[in-house]
Amino acid sequence: MNNSELIKAALEARGLSYSPYSGFAVGAALLCKDGSVFTGCNIENSAFTPTNCAERTAFFKAVSEGKKDFVKIAVVGGNADKQPDNYCPPCGVCRQVMKEFCSPDFEIIMAKNADDYNVMTLAHLLPASFDKREV
Ligand code: THU
Repeated sequence: MNNSELIKAALEARGLSYSPYSGFAVGAALLCKDGSVFTGCNIENSAFTPTNCAERTAFFKAVSEGKKDFVKIAVVGGNADKQPDNYCPPCGVCRQVMKEFCSPDFEIIMAKNADDYNVMTLAHLLPASFDKREV
C-alpha cells in the first residue's frame, strides 16, 4: 500500500473520531509487514486522562489481533469541522508505544491530505529513547 492510500484510510478513520471535548479529530492507519492495515481514531473521555490517541488505537487494535511487525503509519489531525490544514505529529506517549514495536526506520507519515504530507522516521521523532532492551 502506498503513502496516499494509507493516508486515505487514516482520513476515513478520522471520521469516526470521538472528540467532543477538544474538537480535534485524529485518524491513523498502520501498515503491517504482512500488508494488513489497522486504523484508529482518538477516543476522548470526560475524565480526560483515559483519552486514547488515534495512533495508539491503531497499534492496540493490531497487537491485539496478533500483529507485531510494522512498516509505517499515516496520521491526520485537526479541527473536526474542517479538513486538516497542518501536519499532526504523534504525541510522546504514542512515540513510546511505536518504540516498543517498531525499528528506528519505521515511517511516520504526517499528512494534510493524500497529496500533501511529511515523512519522518521513528529515530528522528524519538531520539535517545528508552528501549525494552534496557529493562
Ligand atoms: N491526539 C491524537 O489522537 N494523536 C496525536 O498524535 C495528538 C493528539 C488527540 C488526543 C486528543 O483527543 C486530541 O487529539 C487533542 O489533543
